[in-house]
Amino acid sequence: MYFVTGATAHFGRQVVEELLGADAPVRALTRAPERAALPDGVDVVRGDLTKPETLRGVLAGVEVAFLVLQYGMDVAPLLAAANAAGVRRLVFLSSGAIIPGAERQPNVIAQYHRDVERAIEGSGMEWTFLRLLFPAINSLTFGMQLTGGDVIRAPYTKAAFSAVHERDVAEVAARILIGGGHEGRTYDLTGPESLTQAQQVHILGETLGRPLSVEDLAPEPVLEQMSQFMDREFLAALFGLMAEAVGKPAPVNNVIEQITGHPARTYAQWAADHRAEFAG
Ligand SMILES: NC(=O)c1ccc[n+]([C@@H]2O[C@H](COP(=O)([O-])OP(=O)(O)OC[C@H]3O[C@@H](n4cnc5c(N)ncnc54)[C@H](OP(=O)(O)O)[C@@H]3O)[C@@H](O)[C@H]2O)c1
Repeated sequence: MYFVTGATAHFGRQVVEELLGADAPVRALTRAPERAALPDGVDVVRGDLTKPETLRGVLAGVEVAFLVLQYGMDVAPLLAAANAAGVRRLVFLSSGAIIPGAERQPNVIAQYHRDVERAIEGSGMEWTFLRLLFPAINSLTFGMQLTGGDVIRAPYTKAAFSAVHERDVAEVAARILIGGGHEGRTYDLTGPESLTQAQQVHILGETLGRPLSVEDLAPEPVLEQMSQFMDREFLAALFGLMAEAVGKPAPVNNVIEQITGHPARTYAQWAADHRAEFAG
C-alpha cells in the first residue's frame, strides 16, 4: 500500500493519480474525506498531521509513503506512526532553498525543510528527497489580478526560475515510490528553462490570448501587506530567495528526464494545462 499526504492539493493529488495509473494501491490522508474528491479506488482516510492521535492506524499495511508538509508542520508524529506501522520507505518533497552541507541554513524555509530531512534520516526508514525550488503553480497567484486587467503587478519580476510542472514532480515521485532504487539520494528538480517572472507572464499571455504585461513593485510594501495574513519570517525568506534570483539565470538540470525518460515540461505546457484556472 502507498500512502500520500497533501493528497487533496497540487502535488499529492497528482502523485495519487500517477500511482493509480500504475495500478498501485493508494491510501490518501486528508482532514476532510467528504471534500477530498479523490478518484474512485483511492482509500481515503481521515487524519490531521498536527494531531498525533488521529494518525493511529492510518498507516496500517503501508510500505511506502510520499510526504508533502506545509511549512512549519512537525513531522515527528507522522514518523512515529510510520515506524509503528512498519513503513519501509519515504519520499519527501523538500526545498531547493537548502544549501547542501550547510550546518545552519540561510533562511527559515531552508532550515525547516532541512530539519525535516534530518528527522527522516534519523527515522531508520529508507528515504529519497526531492528538492524543489520553484513550482510553476506559484504563477496561480497571478490569476487573481487577471480579473482586473492585463497588468500583473509583483515584486521581483526580473527574478529567474526554472519552474517545475507539478505533473513532472508527481511522475518522478511515483517512479521512485514504485520502483525504489533511489534510497539515500537527494534530487534537485528543475524545469527545462530559466525564465524571469516577466517572461513567464509573457508566455501566460500568449497562452491565454491576452496582451499581459508586468509592473515591478517595490518589495517592502508588498511584504508588509502580505505579512498581515502570512508568517512574516516565511515571507521574508521567500522574498530573499526571489531577490537572490534577480539578474542571473536559474540552474537547469536533467534530473526529471533521467528519472521519467522524457524532458521536463515547459512553462508554456504548464500554462496550457492550467488555462481554465486563469479564465475566470
Ligand atoms: N511554493 C514553493 O516555492 C515550494 C517549493 C518547494 C516545495 N514546496 C512544497 O509544496 C507544498 C505545496 O504543495 P500543495 O500546493 O500541493 O499543498 P499545500 O496547499 O501547501 O497544502 C495543502 C495540502 O496539505 C494538506 N494539509 C494541510 N494541513 C494539514 C494537516 N494539518 N493534516 C493533514 N493534511 C494537511 C491538505 O489536506 P486537507 O485540506 O485535505 O486536509 C492539502 O492536501 C508546500 O507545502 C511546500 O512544502 C513549495
